[in-house]
Amino acid sequence: MMIPTLEWTREGVRFLDQTRLPLEEIYVLATSYQQVADAITTMVVRGAPAIGVSAAMGVALGVSQSPANTLHALTEDFDRIAKVLAATRPTAVNLFWAIERMRVLFNDLAARPGASIVEVRLALIHEAQQMYDEDIAACKAMGANGAGLMPRSGSVLTHCNAGALATCGYGTALGVIRAAVEHGHILHVYADETRPFLQGARLTAWELMHDGIPTTVLCDNMAASLMRAGKIQAVIVGADRIAANGDVANKIGTYGVAVLAKEHGIPFYVAAPWSTIDVATPTGDSIPIEERPAVEVTHHGGKQLTPDGVGIANPAFDVTPAKYVTAIITEREVLRAPFSESIQNAGAMLAKS
Ligand code: MRU
Repeated sequence: MMIPTLEWTREGVRFLDQTRLPLEEIYVLATSYQQVADAITTMVVRGAPAIGVSAAMGVALGVSQSPANTLHALTEDFDRIAKVLAATRPTAVNLFWAIERMRVLFNDLAARPGASIVEVRLALIHEAQQMYDEDIAACKAMGANGAGLMPRSGSVLTHCNAGALATCGYGTALGVIRAAVEHGHILHVYADETRPFLQGARLTAWELMHDGIPTTVLCDNMAASLMRAGKIQAVIVGADRIAANGDVANKIGTYGVAVLAKEHGIPFYVAAPWSTIDVATPTGDSIPIEERPAVEVTHHGGKQLTPDGVGIANPAFDVTPAKYVTAIITEREVLRAPFSESIQNAGAMLAKS
């Protein structure tokens, strides 16, 4: 059964609260766009594709609840709502992609002669639900495209959580693993715990156990020695933004894993939907990296770990240069180096279709 990460309801957007997993499976209802924004910022919902669809639902919710009674006033409200949602998390490009897709539709509908506010509202809700369905379909397609790249048997390392919980269902990196298992591959997964927010230890472990896929959690600093011991046959991760040259922004620590994989001759795969590829960003150097609150590093489970007043760094993402990436698995095709060319060609095909 698919894990219900997020869901549009008549009352608002329902989220499985990922800050409470794995100990408690609690659902929270965001009944306003501000509450959706808050759920994204506080990581009740997280993972690039899930953030994007949540933002689209937040836009639909905000526009539905707007007291505006002219299209002009509704346009002003749309801008205000979009601004609040866009200010939640800067790195995952899916957030901006989703808001932009809603804006294009809104502007198109509002410009039609005789357009009604009711029609616009319904169309935005429909679009957000469509994006939800498309996201699951994209994950399934990534799974089908990437399954053959996974070893027939052996262990695969993943970092952070790029699973059903990070998407509307099935997952990107974990979707490829799921598809490989469905095709008969005998896989075991090593899940990096992923300090400081522990998406690997808490979320990847929880969702793979939910599916009965054998999983071992390791601390982030253990991957090197496991690789050296020959225990890892492939690495697969998700992405928050992929630049036009194939540089990949993903959860902090991914870069180190990629360098280690190259050193040990282990393939390093990235699975991401096309909406994560940002052709307007030339290289990883221009990707904005979110700095999260220091308390995520200084405390764990309410307990202080570090001395008062010590300096704290908490960049939430890093950039893996394209040269470390073996292939990028998308829902359309598997992209290979040189990524500047393969991304450009795939983009041109998409524009034609
Ligand atoms: O800070 P998070 O938990 O939102 O970061 C998530 C990741 O880095 C994922 O790997 C990425 O968003 C891809 S999810 C399919």
